[in-house]
Amino acid sequence: MNVRLRENADAVYQLAEKKASEYFATLSGQLANQIYATTLTKDIQAWKQNHIHHYPLFSRRRRKSNSHGYHSTIQWLNSSGKLDSYLDRSISYIFLRDLGKSLNSQQTQNRVQLIVDNLKEHLIHSSKNGGKAELFSMAGLYRWAQKEGVETTIIWLLNKLKLVSSIIPEGMDADEAKRKLIKIVTGVVLHQIEGMGEEIPDEERARRLDEAIRLGYSYGLTYPFIDDLLDSDVLFGEEKRQYSDLIRTTLVTGCVPELENWAGENEELIRSIHSELRDAFAYIEGQLRQETKADFLEQSYVFFHSQEVDREKDLLDATYTNEELYIPVILKSASSRLMARSVLSVEEDDGFDKRTFFYGIYNQLADDFADMFDDLEAGAVTPYTYYMKYQTTRPDLINPFALYWTVICHLIHNVYDSDKKTCDVMLNRAVNGLKRFKERMGDDKYNEVMQVFATGQSAFDQLIQKMVRKADDVEFFDKLLRDHMIANFKAKDQEREAFLETIDTVRGQINAALHIPEDGSESYLEEAVIEAANYSLQGDGKRLRPIMTWVMGVHEYGLNPSAIMPLLKSLEYMHTASLIFDDLPSQDNSSFRRGRPTVHHVYNTAVAELSGLYLSQKAVEEQASLDEFDSQAVLLLIRYSAGVTTEMCKGQAMDLNSKGKQLTLDQLHTMCFYKTGLAFEATLVMPAILAGRQVAELEKLKRFAYHAGIAFQIKDDLLDIEGDMDSLGKPTGKDAENNHSTFVSVLGADGARKAMWDHYCTAMELLQQMKYKTTYLEHFLSYIINRDN
Ligand code: IPE
Ligand code: IPE
Ligand code: MG
Ligand code: MG
Ligand code: MG
Repeated sequence: MNVRLRENADAVYQLAEKKASEYFATLSGQLANQIYATTLTKDIQAWKQNHIHHYPLFSRRRRKSNSHGYHSTIQWLNSSGKLDSYLDRSISYIFLRDLGKSLNSQQTQNRVQLIVDNLKEHLIHSSKNGGKAELFSMAGLYRWAQKEGVETTIIWLLNKLKLVSSIIPEGMDADEAKRKLIKIVTGVVLHQIEGMGEEIPDEERARRLDEAIRLGYSYGLTYPFIDDLLDSDVLFGEEKRQYSDLIRTTLVTGCVPELENWAGENEELIRSIHSELRDAFAYIEGQLRQETKADFLEQSYVFFHSQEVDREKDLLDATYTNEELYIPVILKSASSRLMARSVLSVEEDDGFDKRTFFYGIYNQLADDFADMFDDLEAGAVTPYTYYMKYQTTRPDLINPFALYWTVICHLIHNVYDSDKKTCDVMLNRAVNGLKRFKERMGDDKYNEVMQVFATGQSAFDQLIQKMVRKADDVEFFDKLLRDHMIANFKAKDQEREAFLETIDTVRGQINAALHIPEDGSESYLEEAVIEAANYSLQGDGKRLRPIMTWVMGVHEYGLNPSAIMPLLKSLEYMHTASLIFDDLPSQDNSSFRRGRPTVHHVYNTAVAELSGLYLSQKAVEEQASLDEFDSQAVLLLIRYSAGVTTEMCKGQAMDLNSKGKQLTLDQLHTMCFYKTGLAFEATLVMPAILAGRQVAELEKLKRFAYHAGIAFQIKDDLLDIEGDMDSLGKPTGKDAENNHSTFVSVLGADGARKAMWDHYCTAMELLQQMKYKTTYLEHFLSYIINRDN
């Protein structure tokens, strides 16, 4: 293990501090002699040739391209011929910042060009599609995984993201955690791709991508689970101390200590986090090469400790020196980048460490600038909050905004050898950062801030402000994507909530209507049949089929909710009947359903058979009483419905006949479509019939239902091996017990998951082609594959 760290963690940190303090001394020297202002003034004068345009008054060409949404921005950039340079500066910036490359190498330029071309094609294509195909949608991600042969890894990642969201406590932002993780995984994957070269065989490429995704997640987890958690108010006092001790011990000793006693109210949270972090740490450890292991742990330790040093600072303490303020900033920003790199076994590239070390503070100062008011409110000490508070009483304090420009100047001219492209990209980025801040804060607040942070070089300050007002073409794709992702997550969350609320309400209405009045018959058997039918209806069913019909009928076709109630009831009666039959000893022989013993157990087989038949006839009775609709439509509906039932019988027969046989995938699809898929189709088609829609119009919907139905059955097959009886309300392991041919038995669990995702993607893509709003269907689909009952 890491001897240096283990023996003397303080010395390791002090060594890092020494290096940072030398860098800081260089920067403060340059700040003091003010050369940065004259040098950058020259740079900006040259730069602005391409960024200040004189449009005639009222010209339509002037437009704030970021303020019109993601897809229209892309379209606008494309139609005005700006997309290439936009993507070029954006990708160049990623190579600079995330990959630690220097832009003046021919190889880097070629890579940038290649990525720009591919990305451009992708963006133009997906923006044309009505903008429904999302770059970061699950379906988009999964399709990429299929192309690269890393489906299993992406399914693993998606499950992990779900898990993280479920662990993140209130008081922290689960979407933000997800976004950061995706960003970090993407960063590590990019590193890996860039380190791989072109000629690598597909299998090896897939193996390395798998490794990068898992490493990215494992390493990225430290952001929500360590930094953000310690920054938040979820833990406090003793709990916070215990937790940071735990992390420190892990980094110093190289192994995660057991979590024995936990003093504090967040024990459950900490146990979940501990278990995830332990797995993540073990994965990273297992992947690290012997030579980089020590480096990784040291960088992690420096990263963690510098954050702690910053966290412990108190904004009310007026005595921090410039060194105390800036050295942890240099250390945390550099070490986090170096860490991300050393988890991968990519080849060393000349100058990477040096560039990355110098670069970090630039980014940190840009971020802290953007967040200064949030930080101030949280009482956090950053160079900006501290300067705001003490600049009048502490003339010795360095102005962080002036230091920011000094760093930019140092990077362009000393680290990147005055490279023109680098200069262009960095100035774009700096001006863009200020523009975004101004837009977010409003002019008054912005001007106030600029007064506080005036560098004292008034000509330089004025030049910058002029650029902020007038310069164009400084936007970046990663910012657009970030804004888009945040907005998109938020919108999806709201939609999901509305969807869940709707299904809850509708479920309540359906539940209240299902009961069949008992007719007071004398005979036991007659009475028992209705009682048994009600017994099985009362169980804990999800009511998905009538809910879908309600959603389509009411939202899409504008039908009256109370008028379609008989249809909703009929769907649930038919479905419940199919379950009663399915559970019989002659079929799946199951003793539990919807959280209670099956009908034939509580009554007997005869009663079960009769109540099944009874319910399916009740369904027809309900359908025939749809008296607020055109009678021809109702007749059509009944004919269609009877057809579905007959096909379902075929499906069940095929299923039973498959016992002990290895079905082909084709046979499996056919069987599933008949036994399960058709019922889903019916939920979409039946309200359409009532609404008088042409059946031809429904082809796409039917194709959607086909894939959704199969995805539903695959999930059911998977739950049979990995679900839990308590939430399912029915026993697991039945398929194996009955020797059934299912997606799991034919493809294996992993193969079944992949098939489910493939059907999910196809169904999603079909929705994207539909002309009307398909929000609820999208959520329905996600619900199907993410459910645990
Ligand atoms: C179970 O259907 C039968 C299958 C088609 C796999 P559901 O999972 O919808 O069952 P309930 O209605 O919620 O009980
Ligand atoms: C049953 O499939 C399909 C129908 C009810 C028509 P399964 O046999 O897999 O359903 P469960 O698992 O018993 O609910
Ligand atoms: Mg069955
Ligand atoms: Mg069954
Ligand atoms: Mg099943």
